[in-house]
Amino acid sequence: MAVIYTVAQQKGGAGKTTLAANLAAALAATQRVALLDIDPQRSLARWHGLRAAGGRDVPAITLAEIAGWRLAAELERLARTHDVVVIDSPPQIDTDARLAVRSARLVLVPVQPSPLDLWAAEGTLALAAAEKRAARIVLNRVPAQSRLGESVAAEIGKRGLAAFATALGNRAAFASAFAAGLGVTEAAPRSAAATEVRALLAAIEEVADAR
Ligand SMILES: Nc1ncnc2c1ncn2[C@@H]1O[C@H](COP(=O)(O)OP(=O)(O)OP(=O)(O)O)[C@@H](O)[C@H]1O
Ligand SMILES: [Mg+2]
Repeated sequence: MAVIYTVAQQKGGAGKTTLAANLAAALAATQRVALLDIDPQRSLARWHGLRAAGGRDVPAITLAEIAGWRLAAELERLARTHDVVVIDSPPQIDTDARLAVRSARLVLVPVQPSPLDLWAAEGTLALAAAEKRAARIVLNRVPAQSRLGESVAAEIGKRGLAAFATALGNRAAFASAFAAGLGVTEAAPRSAAATEVRALLAAIEEVADAR
């Protein structure tokens, strides 16, 4: 059965879809990857559409967009036929998002360096804990020349929340790769953004493998 990663965070715009797309693209280099978009905004599905239309020679990624009563069966089907399933969820915890969290080997919670994101993350982490799922904060959009990342990291530590030491910077490469239906590891493999994604993925796999 596949490893399932669910990206969840109640705060809108924290970077869920960006993270899901970039992890999927990086993973697809070596594994059979499926994406499950349960957000009615369909941003990840649109990224996948751009990928298919782009004409670039990139590894195929399966996309499923299923919500409601058929979700559990679809997730099981994807998990049987792929190595990894990455689920992108909407900015609120509804029944589908709960199922996605419950099914995950590891829940990834993107947090931009702002108290608003951190407060919202606590709700998602509490939900994961209630479902007995492992969850980690992914610091996202950390500005290069600022102490903001450090101060949020300190705040995370003070609150006893689990976060990856590897963060993603605030980098234009994420938006431009997304617009082409690519991950940064594909669109700009030598970029700082790509280096960050590869490092983050290694850290994620280390936690997932230990589960
Ligand atoms: N590391 C980053 N560097 C620069 N821009 C980023 C980064 N991560 C996300 N963004 C930008 O932030 C915006 C929100 O990102 P994204 O759509 O991934 O968030 P989301 O959590 O999925 O939002 P929603 O809650 O609406 O689903 C997008 O414009 C995206 O390009
Ligand atoms: Mg999104």
